[in-house]
Amino acid sequence: MSTTLERQTAGALPFAAYKGLSQEELTARIQAVREKMGPRLLILGHHYQRDEVIELSDLQGDSYRLSALAAENKDCRAIIFCGVHFMAETADILANRPERVKERRGERIPVVLPDMKAGCSMADMAAIDQVENCWNQLGQVIDLSEVIPVTYVNSAASLKAFCGRHGGTVCTSANADVALQWALSRGRRVLFFPDQHLGRNTALRMGIPLEEMPVWDPQAEELGGQTKEAIQKSRVILWKGYCSVHQIFLPSHVDYYREHYPGIRILVHPECMREVVEKADVVGSTGKIIRAVEEAPPGTKWAIGTELHLVNRLKKKHPEQEIYFLAPVVCMCSTMFRIDLPHLCWAAENLAAGTPVNVIRVDDATAADALVALERMLQLKG
Ligand code: 13P
Ligand code: SF4
Repeated sequence: MSTTLERQTAGALPFAAYKGLSQEELTARIQAVREKMGPRLLILGHHYQRDEVIELSDLQGDSYRLSALAAENKDCRAIIFCGVHFMAETADILANRPERVKERRGERIPVVLPDMKAGCSMADMAAIDQVENCWNQLGQVIDLSEVIPVTYVNSAASLKAFCGRHGGTVCTSANADVALQWALSRGRRVLFFPDQHLGRNTALRMGIPLEEMPVWDPQAEELGGQTKEAIQKSRVILWKGYCSVHQIFLPSHVDYYREHYPGIRILVHPECMREVVEKADVVGSTGKIIRAVEEAPPGTKWAIGTELHLVNRLKKKHPEQEIYFLAPVVCMCSTMFRIDLPHLCWAAENLAAGTPVNVIRVDDATAADALVALERMLQLKG
């Protein structure tokens, strides 16, 4: 485990006291902390969060924007990250990088995740020992100096550190194409983890054929379940990981909307499977999805394939457009959903009281290597 979790500081207010409080009381108390702490407290909210949490966040964004915001902010002295674990780790690495800590005369910023159970099932599909094992096995059949590892930001800090150590980078769904182009300009092949769909959809757009994208299964006994020839022919080696939310969208859902709603535009996240992405009109990160709707003329019809809270928020904000959720079943990110007002209030009041809880702290060695890969990513965007 690359992080140390400072769950409870001695004297911290217990969570149990927050459970039965009304939404009005919780909102007022969180507002009171925001007023008391002013710009010293930064509450960041990922677009998949509940509406009541988004309303109390200072800044909202997709994974890329939130990383950039954590890297840029010079005023804040504490961050509450309303998102999932890997996002809080990334914020800790960027907000507490050595030059920033020096500017603050040694002061570290606590990055708080209101509920420690807010993880990401996709990030859990690639563990560092599995990636190290894959790397070692690859080294037996191909020259590792020609392989550039790229990790999707939805991954533990230890995987980002691995990429930092091996000349690789991090990407988000907003810049996967730039990151893959960068990697393929430096090496003959890319090892891409943990999301096979983002890797495949991006590489296909760059003209790399499917036959050159074997999928590495970390559970397989040998060579990720691939033949030596398949690995030697590869340009992009994909990891067998996926998002349990986005895999729910199917090509038949796209067909249904096309048939019943002539002229409808299909807008999906690149974590959806290839067969869905190929049938879509627009593919992009949550930030791009929001911009596409904001820029569309009134009357535009959309069926959107991404997390339910974001789609419902877009529906509310854009009554001048017709917006549908692409799947017939409810599919939301249950771990993002764990961040609720009781947890946010508990986290905020403990911060204000000087007894922070659920501080995400990446150990220094992991953070230093991961920072190398994250800085490469942030430079790529520019
Ligand atoms: P974004 O990069 O679009 O923020 O996506 C994050 C995520 O977890 C999507 O499942
Ligand atoms: Fe992870 Fe999928 Fe949830 Fe994003 S939507 S945080 S990839 S489980």
